[in-house]
Amino acid sequence: MASTHQQNVIALNASMTNANAPIGIFDSGLGGLSVLRHIAAQLPKEHLLYFADSGFAPYGEKSTSWLIERSLAIADFFMQQNVKALVVACNTATAAAIKALRARYPDLVLIGVEPGLKPAAALTHSKIIGVLATECTLSSEKFTQLRKQISAASQVTFLPQACIGLADQVEKGELNSPATIALLQTYIAPLIQQGADTLVLGCTHYPFLQTLIEEIAQQHQGKNQPAIHIVDTGASVARHLTRLLIENNLQRDHDARIKLEAYTSGNKTVLEDAFLTLLQLHPPVTAI
Ligand code: DGL
Repeated sequence: MASTHQQNVIALNASMTNANAPIGIFDSGLGGLSVLRHIAAQLPKEHLLYFADSGFAPYGEKSTSWLIERSLAIADFFMQQNVKALVVACNTATAAAIKALRARYPDLVLIGVEPGLKPAAALTHSKIIGVLATECTLSSEKFTQLRKQISAASQVTFLPQACIGLADQVEKGELNSPATIALLQTYIAPLIQQGADTLVLGCTHYPFLQTLIEEIAQQHQGKNQPAIHIVDTGASVARHLTRLLIENNLQRDHDARIKLEAYTSGNKTVLEDAFLTLLQLHPPVTAI
């Protein structure tokens, strides 16, 4: 998967001028599909390549240096496919590695994802917001800075909740199992009891549990209370990508057939099934 940096710089120069080149998207596993679905909808003429690092998931409790090394290796892989843009569709990898990725590929259109604290601050009435994310995301410097900045600007209180094991439930396809419900009960109940009226989905796996999260939050909120707001940033990431492609003159404008291909470091059938069940898509999947 790795290549020399020099080869990649050559690949980058070639792809930077090519609006027809694909966009790379990766996550620790299946979570990034919750971002890909918005990108595919907003940019229907773009070629998309998806990499699920399911063989190494979850990322949530890995060390920062491991996450940096892994993210760079995946970026190198995408550069060999001549991508014109890269979306780190993983909050955990973004928090740990976006700086290192920008340093290695300073000219690449590169987008990360982070928990939507700002949109949540605009929605809350109680001024208390629960943030569901991985341990690594919540303990990162990047999240700490963002939290400080948004709380100072909007006087809201954030309640960070590390959801250990939750991304794994999505990886296993357990979107509504008793074990998933039990985990969500444990994580959500204390947030609502402390007055949160808004929950941020700070991990790209969690949008696939959104209906369940809403139901559980509402149970604890009480029947006649206003609905809990749920914040997912997938659509705004896709908008951001669109803007950057336009600014860099990189938007593909061909009517010729578009391409969607997927790669996994885990089980090929699992990714094929996830595409079909979660997005009703069936791209060719290669296990690497
Ligand atoms: N989907 C990832 C995120 O957004 C990470 C989940 C995991 O692998 O722990 O943080």
